[in-house]
Amino acid sequence: MEVDLRSFLSELKKRGELLEVGEEVDTHFEITAVLKEVLGEQGGPAVLFGNVRDYPGRSVTGNLLASRKKMAMALGCEVEELRDTYIKKRFESLDPVMWDGPAPAQEIVVDNVPDLLSLLPAPFFHQGDAGHYMTAGVLIGKDPLTNELNMGIHRLQLKGKNRLGIFLSNPPLSDYFHRAEQEGKPMQVAVALGLHPAELLAAAVSLKQGMKSKVHLAGGLAGRPVPLVKAKVIDMMVPALAEIILEGQLLPGVREDEGPFGESSGYYFKAVSPIMEVQAVTYRKEPILSVIPPWGIETDIILSVFSGGELWQELHRLIPGVLDVSFLPGSLTFQGVIKVAKSVSRTEIRRLIHLALNLDRRLKHVIVVDEDVDIHNSREVLWALGTRFQGSRDLVCLQELEGYVIDPSTEDGKITKIGFDATARPEGPYSSRYERITLPRESVLRAREILGNRHF
Ligand SMILES: Cc1cc2nc3c(=O)[nH]c(=O)nc-3n(C[C@H](O)[C@H](O)[C@H](O)COP(=O)(O)O)c2cc1C
Repeated sequence: MEVDLRSFLSELKKRGELLEVGEEVDTHFEITAVLKEVLGEQGGPAVLFGNVRDYPGRSVTGNLLASRKKMAMALGCEVEELRDTYIKKRFESLDPVMWDGPAPAQEIVVDNVPDLLSLLPAPFFHQGDAGHYMTAGVLIGKDPLTNELNMGIHRLQLKGKNRLGIFLSNPPLSDYFHRAEQEGKPMQVAVALGLHPAELLAAAVSLKQGMKSKVHLAGGLAGRPVPLVKAKVIDMMVPALAEIILEGQLLPGVREDEGPFGESSGYYFKAVSPIMEVQAVTYRKEPILSVIPPWGIETDIILSVFSGGELWQELHRLIPGVLDVSFLPGSLTFQGVIKVAKSVSRTEIRRLIHLALNLDRRLKHVIVVDEDVDIHNSREVLWALGTRFQGSRDLVCLQELEGYVIDPSTEDGKITKIGFDATARPEGPYSSRYERITLPRESVLRAREILGNRHF
């Protein structure tokens, strides 16, 4: 079986991680509402909507990476191995391969594009959005210097007929387009919808020195080279196993209002964005459109696997007592948590806070905790902050640093970054106060025996 979105959905189903919704749902808000309703703090099942009103023969899927467990499935590892698997695989760059024969992504070809909204069940996610959006579209373009393909996830607003507004603020695609525009040329691009989630993760990663391209990385993360096929109307290769491909070009010198759109920050955000003119749409029979609901746990998980992995590695190299890094849910990686060994002194923690806040562009608040705290459980982190931190002693404040574009509290592009030392250091005057309450292991095992499979 090919490694693609459909094989991932089958695997989710086998493991009881897929909720199949047969009831009719409307693209207006109902898809978002179901995707949000099934989530708890640690995530929830992926959902497949097989009956979308006005879209017979089309399905929508979402929450594919809405738990660390599902992210581990996508990378073929256990939850505890997520960070190290990402770090190991990110340099396992695999050259893409040519797909042999007719590609699934091109089973149906539409080269006289009608209104895109009549073809694609793109949701209207939230009240206050400017229109229907696609949130898991991977924009693909050619690096003008190396000709390698590269990609990124970029939100896409359906703007009528064959036009899409693209929020294009991040590299590498924003850089390529800037270059094409300087020469006054359109830039050929494709959008792949419905990729394997490991490929989606690769699209979101910040390119590091030593990584050839995100397509190479996608092969490494998915555990097989990305199969590519020649696009139908543009001079580019596109993923052969996607559900849907849009082929077209970004128009030079054209900007239009795009949004407002309820973003992964939890707020509406509008921009003046480039326009993609879609020249052809190709898709599988009965295509599945995958979506990422904004401000959901999925964005937290995607960002925390790669940002957390990268940050941990850099910090651990500088201060070996740095044990792990995570981000608080809902914080869009603005709020990080760092676990340190007991051997790291208070002054080293200060240095660590300065390093972390400067190394990671998005990181705005960082909480440093001891080894006994489960940093993937926000209750534990907030407990440590509430009981081990004293503002007059443990606060680090860095002012006038560069802000992040979708943080609404940024003023004149600048923010204040804060570090909280929420550790109970052995050298502290009151260290004996920090003995955690515990239960004997046998009693915990006995409780599990008594309760059996009962869930509460
Ligand atoms: C769920 C999700 C949505 C994203 N949406 C956008 C977007 O609309 N526009 C954009 O420029 N970047 C967006 N990004 C970021 C890029 O896909 C990608 O992370 C970026 O190219 C990495 O570049 P960096 O080096 O700036 O981190 C999104 C990332 C994620 C995980």
